Amino acid sequence: MTVDLRTTYLGLELRSPLVASPSPLTGELDGLRRLEAAGVGAVVLPSLFEEQLTHDQLELDRLLETTADHVGEAQSYFPDLQDYNTGPWTYLDHITQAKRALSVPVIASLNGITPGGWVGHAKRMRDAGADALELNLYTVATNPRVGAVELEARYLDLVADVRAAVSIPVAVKLSPFFTALANFAMRVEEAGADGLVLFNRFYQPDLDLDSRDVVPRLVLSTSDELRLPLRWIAILFGRVGVSLAATTGVHTGLDAAKVLLAGANVAMMTSALLRNGPEHVGVVERELRTVMAEHDHDSVAQLRGSMSRMHMPDPAGYERANYVRTLMSWSSRAQVSPGQATTDEPVG
Ligand SMILES: Cc1cc2nc3c(=O)[nH]c(=O)nc-3n(C[C@H](O)[C@H](O)[C@H](O)COP(=O)(O)O)c2cc1C
Repeated sequence: MTVDLRTTYLGLELRSPLVASPSPLTGELDGLRRLEAAGVGAVVLPSLFEEQLTHDQLELDRLLETTADHVGEAQSYFPDLQDYNTGPWTYLDHITQAKRALSVPVIASLNGITPGGWVGHAKRMRDAGADALELNLYTVATNPRVGAVELEARYLDLVADVRAAVSIPVAVKLSPFFTALANFAMRVEEAGADGLVLFNRFYQPDLDLDSRDVVPRLVLSTSDELRLPLRWIAILFGRVGVSLAATTGVHTGLDAAKVLLAGANVAMMTSALLRNGPEHVGVVERELRTVMAEHDHDSVAQLRGSMSRMHMPDPAGYERANYVRTLMSWSSRAQVSPGQATTDEPVG
């Protein structure tokens, strides 16, 4: 059976639903070229961070001030400093070079949480050739005086600001930590987003007792983490009109097939590609074709969402009832003392 892997995402036609999510691999041209050669459907560049932009803006301001002291009327030349080669400008170069080197769509990523001039960089990314933007809403809400209502309103304003700045498609990458995620997803759509990327994976810091430091611990994901995006994509499919991208835990063709069945337009990968190299895209594609053929699915369009919440005879599987069922499936016989054989049969 020939399997048609074409899909649409954010209104873009992709040759494959396997997409490389932001990582150091998509931050260099060699990585991008190898990803394309391995069959990737699109690439998302690493995020340009608000902090980088505000930092560079501060540097620029300081430069303008100090130079102004020395050169007086020459201030009129300062607009030329727009070409000042700092973080953002290098980023824009990367977009241009990526576009030149690749024929698959190039999605640029912007990370931030406060409204401000830096949103103007969305326009510059578009001008540099980005086919779409991914707005990465990554923050840790540590202030007990700032509630969900305020924070969500801020996020939505930001989505609307970016939407207003560009006419190319905009996807929003969310964290899973929302009290009413389905509601927030709907409001992100209303604010003008064309897609949701589920989910951002937070990196939890650790403590080093010797140096008394809080240290970053970057641990790559495994397929076990797939179930969080899997569940929410299944719940949101058909409920929101935007494209859905699964990110976190896609490592194999079976993982990719699952998120597509749940309703994703694309399955994004980072950890699997960092661990196995960009050529792993080809391995996952072959596995995906095999899984689809084995289950009589001849195209992504035909299988997409067929196991979503709305298409399951028992949608409770995705809801709270499943919590009870899951707990009941635990067998005390599965717990073994050292030396004993394992039995792992569900009870119910
Ligand atoms: C080293 C590294 C760098 C990353 N950089 C970014 C980034 O700049 N922007 C972003 O939105 N996500 C970034 N991510 C998150 C990934 O794009 C992805 O969403 C996450 O790793 C979960 O997917 P996975 O399970 O396939 O790794 C990064 C992940 C890693 C491991």
